Amino acid sequence: MTLLDGKKLSQSVKDEVKSEVAKLVQKGIVPTLAVILVGDDVPSHTYVNAKAKACEYCGIKSLVYKLGADTTQSELLALINTLNFDDSVDGILVQLPLPAHINKATIIEAISTHKDVDGFHPFNVGLLNTGFESGLLPCTPLGVIKLLKAYDINVEGLDAVVIGASNIVGRPMATMLLNLGASVSVCHIKTRDLSLYTKRADLIVVAAGCVNLLKADMVKEGVIVVDVGINRLANGKLVGDVDFDSVSKKASFISPVPGGVGAMTIAMLMANTLKATLAHKKSREKSQK
Ligand code: GUN
Repeated sequence: MTLLDGKKLSQSVKDEVKSEVAKLVQKGIVPTLAVILVGDDVPSHTYVNAKAKACEYCGIKSLVYKLGADTTQSELLALINTLNFDDSVDGILVQLPLPAHINKATIIEAISTHKDVDGFHPFNVGLLNTGFESGLLPCTPLGVIKLLKAYDINVEGLDAVVIGASNIVGRPMATMLLNLGASVSVCHIKTRDLSLYTKRADLIVVAAGCVNLLKADMVKEGVIVVDVGINRLANGKLVGDVDFDSVSKKASFISPVPGGVGAMTIAMLMANTLKATLAHKKSREKSQK
């Protein structure tokens, strides 16, 4: 069994971004990411702080807007509009979840598609779904693909199962695997017999937020398992969605929690911010011609 070491890979992705950013800074371009957080959700504050820290490491300027839980939708839209038109800003990220009085879809659609470093805007989702992948792609599934490729895992022709159908992970994950030639099943909360799918799978990506959802008796020998779950137990321990101790005995490759996919998400956000900055630079140069 080989561990899919996301911690090590995320460090090398951030180091690559850092060296590319340094080249841009020498040309007078400072990649800039605006991060907006609305409300008091504790994990969101932790994630946003971690994103700002990664920006600092890579030399990316981060503008963090921490807004009160009573911020109105119009106020949030006004801030996004300002950032969309601010030529010094390359990327915009609105941390989810948003308070219930704000319509998530309206907010995501308001972000300029070129600055949508989360890859959540329907335009970028559409590019992914049509197989072009020329837009910005969601960070967590992009990190999973990067991790699989780093271990020379070719998914073409594999029977893949994605557990979880969220817009952040499950759906784009399934689409990326499909685009790479895997046969993909998407299982979710209404799936009647999860084992039916997982037992025949060559590759399983679990993103359900459910401790011990995937157990050894549900997988075949040699399976590749990627655990996207991050769950904190009552004793403070972080665990994924996979019963790691038992499943790792049957798996050929498995990602641990922590140390697996988690760190990849922020690393890919840094890579997306660099990508958006380079595209922004190109369009600026084109318009100056
Ligand atoms: N909340 C949980 N994951 C994410 C993410 O990748 N991006 C944003 N914006 N919010 C999240």
